[in-house]
Amino acid sequence: MTNQYVLDTPVVRAFVSTARDSIRAAPSPRDACAAIRPHFASLLADPDWLPDEYRAAAPESGMGGGIGQWLLFRAADGSLSLFSLVVPSGSETPVHDHLAWGLVGLYQGAQDEDIYAERNGGLELLESRSLQPGDFYELIPPQDDIHRVRTTSEETSVSIHLLTNDTGCVWRHTFDPESGRREPFRSGYVNVPCNET
Ligand SMILES: [Fe+2]
Repeated sequence: MTNQYVLDTPVVRAFVSTARDSIRAAPSPRDACAAIRPHFASLLADPDWLPDEYRAAAPESGMGGGIGQWLLFRAADGSLSLFSLVVPSGSETPVHDHLAWGLVGLYQGAQDEDIYAERNGGLELLESRSLQPGDFYELIPPQDDIHRVRTTSEETSVSIHLLTNDTGCVWRHTFDPESGRREPFRSGYVNVPCNET
């Protein structure tokens, strides 16, 4: 597979190029995130780069609830992906993990997020926070890796994810927040298949 620019625009190419340079040069994920932060903030602040088709809900999605996960870019070796996650008003994701570090930020709408950690064989709710457009955070497993998001705005919410795996295609987990039981989970992308290897 080659690098896949599903949304092949100068803005996406410049952002991905900067992110990959930062990742190569940084001694740690935390340093890489710090280097990428200003560029990610600019991307979230720019209202024009993401076409409407990548802000659309997806009735048949792998996440359920009409939640659309749209791939924008992924690296040939599966080491990086950029995607939008579209959550209709009132919908929420299952509790899930990502299994990779990166940056996640809100681009449109409003969300509540619940963050969990695995403790003593179950799940513990660590934090609940509200996100507004432009808010973003670093996800460095196990820190902040398990969460659920819910759209609280009338408007569909759109978050932008830059994660260091092919998040839609790797097998990860959903969790029952009551029992902590985990199930294998692969969300897929609405717009591209996963390559079976
Ligand atoms: Fe997530």
